[in-house]
Amino acid sequence: MAEYISLSPEETEEIGKKLALSYSDGKRTGFVALFGDLGAGKTALTRGFVSVLSPGSRVKSPTFTIVNEYVSGSVPVFHFDLYRLSGSDELEDMGYYEYLERGICIVEWSERLEGLIPDDAVKVYITKNDDDSRTIRIEPEEKQEGFLENDRPWN
Ligand SMILES: Nc1ncnc2c1ncn2[C@@H]1O[C@H](COP(=O)(O)OP(=O)(O)OP(=O)(O)O)[C@@H](O)[C@H]1O
Ligand SMILES: [Mg+2]
Repeated sequence: MAEYISLSPEETEEIGKKLALSYSDGKRTGFVALFGDLGAGKTALTRGFVSVLSPGSRVKSPTFTIVNEYVSGSVPVFHFDLYRLSGSDELEDMGYYEYLERGICIVEWSERLEGLIPDDAVKVYITKNDDDSRTIRIEPEEKQEGFLENDRPWN
């Protein structure tokens, strides 16, 4: 398990960037499951992630559309926000299973997926601390290779 403390939205974005580096070596698919409360920093982390894999894209939480597509890189990135998901039927109707085959998926509110997270997903848990910092835990560790060796990966 790898765990970081982020002191600002920028540091959280930086963790997203570092995470994206392990997807920038030609992988065609991948899945990042994000967990954390409202305002935890899921979109901030996604912003960093997408900036590496789809440069120049504007990342906003896709709360009303459920999924946004970022296609300026070599592999499409699909950014889901499942906060308003009504159930697994809606997921199937929106083509969730097709997206898994079509590109790299990063999913806010993965709590809503229960058993539907792919086995090889990377899981990111973000919690708010009393001092407003964030604790960011990434599993499994071996997926992240180099960058997890440093306590603060942007140093
Ligand atoms: N260390 C930090 N990392 C990330 N965000 C932080 C941090 N400290 C403060 N913030 C603030 O917390 C908020 C995080 O917002 P963000 O949209 O990324 O959260 P979210 O988890 O996507 O929320 P939602 O569930 O509503 O989609 C921003 O307003 C940001 O400025
Ligand atoms: Mg969000």
